[in-house]
Amino acid sequence: MTRKNLSNKTVMILGGDGYLGWSLGLAFANRTNNKVILVDNLIKRNWEKEVNAKLLIPIKKPAKRIAAYNGIYNKNNLFFEKLDLLNKKELDKIVKKYNPTVIINAAQQPSAPFSMMNAKNASVTFLNNIVGHLNVLWSIAENNKNIRYIKLGSAGCYMDTDTNFLPLEKKDFSFNHNGKKFKLLKSFIPMQATDFYHQSKISDFLIDDLCAKLWKLKVITVQQATIFGATIEENHSVENETLSARFNYDAVFSTVINRFVCQLVIGHPLTVYGDGKQKTGLISLSDSVENIMKLTKVKLTPGEHTVVHNYTHRYSIEEIAKMIAKVDPNANINYIKNPRKEPEGRLNRQVELHDSIINQQENKKAKVETEIAKMIEFTGRHKDNIDQSIIMPKVLWDKINSEKKESIWNLKYITKTTQILNESMKSMKIRYSSIMNSL
Ligand SMILES: NC(=O)c1ccc[n+]([C@@H]2O[C@H](COP(=O)([O-])OP(=O)(O)OC[C@H]3O[C@@H](n4cnc5c(N)ncnc54)[C@H](O)[C@@H]3O)[C@@H](O)[C@H]2O)c1
Repeated sequence: MTRKNLSNKTVMILGGDGYLGWSLGLAFANRTNNKVILVDNLIKRNWEKEVNAKLLIPIKKPAKRIAAYNGIYNKNNLFFEKLDLLNKKELDKIVKKYNPTVIINAAQQPSAPFSMMNAKNASVTFLNNIVGHLNVLWSIAENNKNIRYIKLGSAGCYMDTDTNFLPLEKKDFSFNHNGKKFKLLKSFIPMQATDFYHQSKISDFLIDDLCAKLWKLKVITVQQATIFGATIEENHSVENETLSARFNYDAVFSTVINRFVCQLVIGHPLTVYGDGKQKTGLISLSDSVENIMKLTKVKLTPGEHTVVHNYTHRYSIEEIAKMIAKVDPNANINYIKNPRKEPEGRLNRQVELHDSIINQQENKKAKVETEIAKMIEFTGRHKDNIDQSIIMPKVLWDKINSEKKESIWNLKYITKTTQILNESMKSMKIRYSSIMNSL
């Protein structure tokens, strides 16, 4: 594709080297004629080194990833800019240079365990996630209020809120105090986190609301549920593996299904935290990408903060483990001490969905099973890259980890859980080929 064929629309994706950002970039670039600018400071590559996290498939430098895309799809509409969102001056230059129609912000420190490791990581998470985001909002307000801003939030903001309904908009509430009834008008459902990462996402959400109102911006917060999946249409095949997304499988940066599937393909027991009754919202990577693409077109009113719950499923961790373990008759599930503080919601929760994504609710169960089968096939191709030693959780929510103490705590915890796992591995016949044959 030459520059002449490009549409007028420029989509800027912040966090374009990341799991979601790169997948969005590939999908936008390949499925549209938009000019797509990936922006990232590559900080996640350093954080991964810090905690010894490895990727299922090592990713190349952005220029090489883009050259691979140009070669495979014969297009020339994907670009990269190295930039730290904490650098407001440089951010302004990039916003002015491209004057994007849409900015999607998926550039954050995305891990709860990372944020709970020690004081340094808690502040890195707050600084990066809150100030970086604030800089983008200021830059939009100063440069072009017409830019549509789609910010990735997190469904985990409601983790400690026991409600049986999550509305999209503000509501009126009433409550009793000392026998009297009181009212709270036009408020979002209160959000309560159980870790510093989600606390940063709560602040982000409220900052979106404030800035949309203050400056009449077009802002969407995507309250994103846990994403699962290794690939999208553009990078699933063997020939397209050079386009693979960053895929974490370790206990710090991975999400639950991604971790379970990697455990399954190497014959490791699936490690359920606690009794596994805690529930989580879920959505596949490809559905999430599709939904976010749709949000670039929905009608917005300046000054109104639009909220989207990006979910298709809600399952307990135990249900997920059982669903995955079903694929292999030799699979084991191990219940280990929950390192997190995950409250058991007493109320069964319904989630209101935005009109733009409501259709995606069809054939939910079939979809999750197909996606898991695709993941098993894909991760199976790369199972020799999986390092078993980084799978067990090392960060405990209820311990104050100074950087020195952390290793002692972790050592005790890991030794104990590794013993349990080793015993269970011994009694388990690992027959990976039987999984592949049964697919
Ligand atoms: N993956 C999930 O399951 C999930 C679930 C809910 C919400 N989210 C949200 O989606 C977004 C993307 O998550 P992900 O899983 O793709 O994470 P990721 O770590 O794979 O990608 C984030 C990218 O942002 C970049 N980045 C971070 N700080 C930056 C900064 N200051 N300047 C420039 N670039 C920076 C990193 O280098 C990385 O490439 C995050 O906001 C996360 O909170 C993800």
